Amino acid sequence: MGVHAIVGGQWGDEGKGKVVDFFSDSADVVARYQGGANAGHTVFIDTEQFILHQVPSGILRPDTRCLLGPGMVVDPVELAGEIGRLRDKGFRCMQQIGVAYNAQLVLPVHKRLDGVSEAALKDQAIGTTQRGIGPTYSDRYARRSLPVSALLDADRFKEAVKAHLEYANALLTKIYGQPPLVMADFWDELAATREVVLPLVTDVSTEVIQALREDKSVIAEGAQGVLLDIDFGTYPYVTSSHPGTIGVASGLGIPPAAVTRSTGIFKAYCTRVGEGPFPTELTDHEAGERLRKAGNEYGATTGRPRRCGWFDGVLGDFSARINGFTDICITKADVLSQFREIPMCTGYEDQSTDFLNLHALDEVTPHYASFEGWDDDISGCESMSEFPEALLIYLDALESSLGAPIRIVSTGPERSQIVRK
Ligand code: IMP
Repeated sequence: MGVHAIVGGQWGDEGKGKVVDFFSDSADVVARYQGGANAGHTVFIDTEQFILHQVPSGILRPDTRCLLGPGMVVDPVELAGEIGRLRDKGFRCMQQIGVAYNAQLVLPVHKRLDGVSEAALKDQAIGTTQRGIGPTYSDRYARRSLPVSALLDADRFKEAVKAHLEYANALLTKIYGQPPLVMADFWDELAATREVVLPLVTDVSTEVIQALREDKSVIAEGAQGVLLDIDFGTYPYVTSSHPGTIGVASGLGIPPAAVTRSTGIFKAYCTRVGEGPFPTELTDHEAGERLRKAGNEYGATTGRPRRCGWFDGVLGDFSARINGFTDICITKADVLSQFREIPMCTGYEDQSTDFLNLHALDEVTPHYASFEGWDDDISGCESMSEFPEALLIYLDALESSLGAPIRIVSTGPERSQIVRK
């Protein structure tokens, strides 16, 4: 059995948490391979809502091993808080969770730097989640960050944090003209996280490879979406990792050929949080607001209202191609009920290059095909045969534009609201 990757096909927030929870019913291992506390994976069980930021969504299944892979940037303070909240609800976190010794640590100063660098960019700001993601990945590539293994020795950890802070404070004061961060303001809280995180430290790569040798089922849980990829997204309005299938091998430390299935998650429309081009955005306030309200489109991590727009078949095709999706899951199909007409972008005019230049997307004019809407409430449908004809036609069009079979359609936020094809 190979690794099953579950990947956001758009700009994140496609509903990966719910889909991972659905598949983790039969999974032995669920492993996150990139990103950090910028993710907000929302899962509903009955009517109770869980928002997970760093802990893989498999934690809601009591026998699933949940790994934070080496491709992640792990915030130990946030992680200890998240684990505490889950333990209060009765989850067996300490038995289930493993944290890669070679993931990198997000330190308090990384979050400060995220905030001040965004402020310095003024109207060019990326619109980050301010969780310290960019500064930590920058330090990782500059070989300046502290890996999780730095926690192993208390004295050396303190020395390493102090040395790193000296460098980071030079940036804060000399580049950004800000006051320095004082170790005493955060040290006690940071040091206390050792007690929670140390027992969880493991070698994720070896664990996953061993699980595969034992024919166990392994899910690689993506965060964000492929259009936010550092290399293949709408740079510079991107995150600092590889959210797509290509990130799985290096993010977990496994051979690329071990990934045998990759499910692309797409909303039936599009959303984006933060800045950056969005060709099919409904900039007309009323229409965008209607989609936002119907889909409850507010960020799970930051609470920011999400920008909303129609499905973009050009970007969908691009995403499916570079991720090699073997199958597709469409989420939030229920949100489109009661829209009389559903436009879908089928091409761009005014492209300045003969290839799809994601860095110049704000210059394109999308053209649309129009699909008939449906009035029926589909949230209780148990099979696709119960779907209205107009939705089936729309799903067929999505499938053709994505070039991979749609296997699952999600029809509401709850665990049970999912229909298999
Ligand atoms: P960062 O990952 O916090 O550095 O933010 C970079 C960009 O990625 C910003 O546009 C964020 O809004 C976006 N982003 C980061 N995490 C998520 C997510 O989980 N869902 C959607 N967008 C995200």
